[in-house]
Amino acid sequence: MSSNADAFDRWIRGSFVEMNTELEELYFAQDDRSNVIGIGDPIKARLRDEGHEHVAALLSEGNTGDGFSSAFGVLGNVGLYLGALRRHELTNPEREERSPFPEASSLALHVGASIGMAPRYATAHLATHNLAIRGVRKSFTSLKDEFLFIDENTRGILGLQRAADALGRVVHLGVSSPIAEQLFRDARAALDDVVAFNAGLAEALDIERFFYCVRPYYKPYRVGRQEYRGANAGDFSGINEIDLLLGLTRANDPYYAQLLVDKMPFMLPSEQARLRECMSQRSLLDELLLLVDDCADAPWFRVNTRAFLEACDAFGETARQHHDLLVEKFIAGPANSLDERQLQGITSSGPPLEVLLRSLKILRDYRCAEPDPAGRSRHADIARLRAAVG
Ligand code: HEM
Repeated sequence: MSSNADAFDRWIRGSFVEMNTELEELYFAQDDRSNVIGIGDPIKARLRDEGHEHVAALLSEGNTGDGFSSAFGVLGNVGLYLGALRRHELTNPEREERSPFPEASSLALHVGASIGMAPRYATAHLATHNLAIRGVRKSFTSLKDEFLFIDENTRGILGLQRAADALGRVVHLGVSSPIAEQLFRDARAALDDVVAFNAGLAEALDIERFFYCVRPYYKPYRVGRQEYRGANAGDFSGINEIDLLLGLTRANDPYYAQLLVDKMPFMLPSEQARLRECMSQRSLLDELLLLVDDCADAPWFRVNTRAFLEACDAFGETARQHHDLLVEKFIAGPANSLDERQLQGITSSGPPLEVLLRSLKILRDYRCAEPDPAGRSRHADIARLRAAVG
């Protein structure tokens, strides 16, 4: 890491966090906790100016050749800086045609393009690739609820990645292999862990702190001329690998394919490659359906199919929980008490809340193989397998 990159990283882990935390405490102490305008202006100016010095030094250095992890770190840091400027309303894509921070935009565009990712911070920066240095991991604030959110998201993501790894291994052994049962059980165990992490998060996270002091850092912002949606805990390939490997969604479904294309640049390049590979494989559900007529009475078919269905059920449970517990309790519920102005921009992807909730529900229903008269979910196929193995 160059000395400029190192200095920026130390600032992000230090003063940046302190200033954001101070601002959050000021906002949160108000009657209207959603108001940020005219509050803590000297702190906001310091945050903007100190960050700018680091950005300008890195931009003039013009060096993205220190290897992937250094470039990835700079991209995350400039992204956290821009995310905070957006949160404190020093920029707002709705009132601007281009970012008022051209140097930070240029740095993000340069580094993002050089490593093949969107020019903003991504989930991986705060979750799976959030390198702790002497116990300090990156965050916007030092609020306990932000650390809880970051840590539990990471645990959940790692659980889903473990499940995806196990399912991916079945592809190379085949659904008739005696080993497949164990791998389906490994996937199920990892998914059961995710359910436990989600339940713990839902229990411990403070609704108001999350809604007013954590979530606003995940809003969309402009880099250069273009607006980029916020990061969300779903920006890793594992969740989609599970979708596609279990066969609960299909890569040729227009809704789902669009979602995959949109989210690719928010993933690490290594994850983009994993997802592409998955998109070219036949799902395990389709493999089992090809065999169901001939092999339904074979012991291996019954054992492996039952284990497969248990993995599907566990995955459905994680999806139900995300939508009906986490999204409901921490987004939809608190949003009910807001007026039109306060509601603007609360989602990280940008669309109005009811549109976002509808699209998240579609994903939940695919993952739970809910009955679907249009035949897009795999309800009928899963029911056929269930009937075959009793
Ligand atoms: C997406 C809420 C925790 C996995 C989303 C979105 C929302 C949301 C609102 C849509 C993104 C947007 O705003 O545009 C929440 C809340 C959480 C939480 C309120 C906890 C307080 C988690 C955790 C995981 C997770 C722990 C699992 C690791 C996902 C996934 C997506 C997503 C995979 C992408 C859409 C999908 O494929 O389902 N989340 N989330 N979320 N979240 Fe969460």
